[in-house]
Amino acid sequence: MKKKINKKSKNFWRGRFIESPSETMVRINSSISFDKILYEKDIIASKAHATMLCNQNIITKEELKKVLNGLTKIEKEIKQNKMQFNDELEDIHTHVEARLIELIGALGKKLHTARSRNDQVATDTKIWLREQNKIIDKYLENLQLSLIEKAETNIFTYMPGFTHLQVAQPITLAHHLLAYVNMFGRDRDNNKSLIERHNYSPLGSAALAGTSFNINRDETSNNLGFKSPMSNSIDAVSDRDFILDSLNLCCSISIHLSRLSEEIILWSSPGFDFINLPDTFSTGSSIMPQKKNPDAAELIRGKSGRVIGNYVTLFNIMKALPLAYSKDMQEDKEPLFDSIQTTKDTINVMSEMIKEIKFNTDKMLKMCNKGHINATDVADALVAELGVPFRDAHMITGKLVAKADKKKIQIHELNIKDFKKVDKRINNKIVDKITLKASVKNRDSYGGTNPENIRKEIIFSKEKWCND
Ligand code: ARG
Repeated sequence: MKKKINKKSKNFWRGRFIESPSETMVRINSSISFDKILYEKDIIASKAHATMLCNQNIITKEELKKVLNGLTKIEKEIKQNKMQFNDELEDIHTHVEARLIELIGALGKKLHTARSRNDQVATDTKIWLREQNKIIDKYLENLQLSLIEKAETNIFTYMPGFTHLQVAQPITLAHHLLAYVNMFGRDRDNNKSLIERHNYSPLGSAALAGTSFNINRDETSNNLGFKSPMSNSIDAVSDRDFILDSLNLCCSISIHLSRLSEEIILWSSPGFDFINLPDTFSTGSSIMPQKKNPDAAELIRGKSGRVIGNYVTLFNIMKALPLAYSKDMQEDKEPLFDSIQTTKDTINVMSEMIKEIKFNTDKMLKMCNKGHINATDVADALVAELGVPFRDAHMITGKLVAKADKKKIQIHELNIKDFKKVDKRINNKIVDKITLKASVKNRDSYGGTNPENIRKEIIFSKEKWCND
């Protein structure tokens, strides 16, 4: 049923309309249920805009005072849950402005001079996101610290390193944990650089073409903590790269968390038994009384799918939009808000979980006695001690592995006779060196698992990442 436009509606664009939007239109058009999260930023940006209008003699000092007081009052009302939200008023920008007019009368109608919701929404979202990115940086720092602290006490904890999830070479737990510190470090670098890259103000671009009023964009940009105004008003209102970059960052953090979660899940299963899961991050089964399931890690792994989905959603929304603003862009917010919240939550769960995990170092050591973990050390020793070319050493060692397999023992358990049967040149000096400890110690190339390397890396990582 069509309805005549309600002349008393507070919606600002009704002037040229004869009929009201349909109920379903009101519903899909409204973003207030999720963009109300931007209210503080909308008010900060409105205050900066009003102050600039006053400094440019577009409104008077008296008027400015009333506008600022009205905005402060609205902020309090929203904070105290006193604002009535209404789908017909679409979004947070219209709600704040409509309430201002209610509070201070016709003067409130001047606030939108030289401004549009297009530059407003881009500005509010940018300020909100900049703050969120800084919070994410802090949370990542905490996570790195949890990992480094675990590494510090596990410099000599031997475990199998895997490739293809097959036992490969011995490493230390500290070395393994520090790999994640580096991954989250790259995320933090990426985060810092994206904050810098996007810290330019859209405000004052108005709808798309700029404004005929004598505004001062440098002033609002400065006031709101931006480096300078964006130099092209069309780009300023249609750019969502700052959101796409943050969604990409959330994906990267999430896949790093997901890989660590996958390891926690594997390590807590009886096949590995490398860790005891803390009760606080596990759940039980409703039927199997013995179960303790790694739910927190599984949820982090699962949620990475959702964060990647949000990234794909916004890329799809943006890919064919003509310049400048289109309403499609309102669809940027739910994926953004969801990814930021999910990423913050999952980082924090992981930090706390890492602190509480108990490592079964004896089980880790025991698994080093599988999969002929020292085979590369044998090959390396043939090269170093006998001058055998590496490819030949590899072949000889392969034969030793086959021999050990046949005897159902590990390569380092073969006796000197077995070694000599495969290659006469092998002597006790070589055989005696094939130990776990030597293997780890000998890998002292830069970045390698040698405990002295790792000790230095821990000091370096602490200084680089956790010095605030
Ligand atoms: N709620 C809108 C958004 O989030 C604000 C911009 C509306 N602009 C417009 N021209 N209808 O994108």
